[in-house]
Amino acid sequence: MMTAQPIVELQHVERQFIKDRQVIPVIQGIDLAIYPQEIICIVGESGCGKTTTGKMIAGLLNPSGGEILVDGQPIGKYQGRTKAILRRSLQIVHQDPFASLNPSHTIEQILSFPLQRHRLVNGRAELRKRIWELLTMVDLTPPGDIVHKFPHQLSGGQRQRVSIARALTVNPRLIVADEAVSMVDVSIRIGILKMLQRLREELNVAIVFITHDLALAKYFAWEGRIAVMYLGRIVEIGRTPDVIGNPLHPYTRALVAAVPEADPERTRHKEHLTLRSEEIPKLTNIPRGCAFHPRCTFFQPGICDTQIPLLEQISQKGQLVACTPQTQGGKLIRYLEPATTSSLLVAKHRSADG
Ligand SMILES: Nc1ncnc2c1ncn2[C@@H]1O[C@H](COP(=O)(O)OP(=O)(O)OP(=O)(O)O)[C@@H](O)[C@H]1O
Ligand code: SF4
Ligand SMILES: [Mg+2]
Repeated sequence: MMTAQPIVELQHVERQFIKDRQVIPVIQGIDLAIYPQEIICIVGESGCGKTTTGKMIAGLLNPSGGEILVDGQPIGKYQGRTKAILRRSLQIVHQDPFASLNPSHTIEQILSFPLQRHRLVNGRAELRKRIWELLTMVDLTPPGDIVHKFPHQLSGGQRQRVSIARALTVNPRLIVADEAVSMVDVSIRIGILKMLQRLREELNVAIVFITHDLALAKYFAWEGRIAVMYLGRIVEIGRTPDVIGNPLHPYTRALVAAVPEADPERTRHKEHLTLRSEEIPKLTNIPRGCAFHPRCTFFQPGICDTQIPLLEQISQKGQLVACTPQTQGGKLIRYLEPATTSSLLVAKHRSADG
């Protein structure tokens, strides 16, 4: 369990968007704390709300409901210079570096801008030194070969390294890396991930790593935590080895089952879960009760389509899960009703193998 003060804490955060006069409940009540220097992965299928969550963590998007605390205080309470400093300490690196880097600026200009704007350097010599330092930190060496280039003259991997260097210009305490390697060649992904891990240790920065790829999350966040999202909610969260080694929510179990294993022995012993449906429901028409019920192997009519299971702590290690159908022993499932969260319902449940 973490005891330090979180850098950012989402408390019952909701976010809606209006599209074609329809309210889309993209985030429906997320509780999530991000601690100093930790690695936390947010995983889930396309459209489940990962980027929306990441933007709220980075202070780029306001919630429609709930509260976001930074250093223990509601983000809205910070004003003036304190607010500006706070904003700077939360950075985001986007999926597509080509779109986020100005194509008509050289790398030197791209990195100079935030350093000068926030008066983080004094004079040209210090500016040049800092740019050299930043490019070296992200392994773009020798910096002299890079500074005068434009983004289109770099490879996808190099551009993403520049985006990371730009995020580092303002000495952040937290970086949200949103699908930061999904647009670069598989062959160079590992290099960038290793660099991010090294930067986290060297610069004491927390990293929120957003990905739809559980295998990538497992690799990157083995020493951290994983939060699994499904249609605007976190359905399971815990230390990565616990979530991967002992996935409890049926959705996490299906994701883990789908991760390929190099070792045939492990593959043999792996759980095989077939979803009832591959189709992801639309946010404009979220299924009643548990939103996962049209796809869940353990679906039980009358329960799963009427009650929303909420996150519960199920171990001393801090693993939280929104539903735990037991496949051995008791064959029980626990639910918390949303209207009266104190009422604990225990219902008989069909097992996967029975
Ligand atoms: N500004 C917006 N206006 C209307 N709808 C939006 C807006 N931003 C996001 N959405 C909708 O919210 C849902 C979740 O979007 P989000 O980008 O957070 O998902 P995601 O998990 O990051 O998906 P992906 O893996 O494809 O990046 C999507 O259906 C998206 O269309
Ligand atoms: S509540 Fe029902 S449908 Fe939802 S995950 Fe649990 S068993 Fe599956
Ligand atoms: Mg996204």
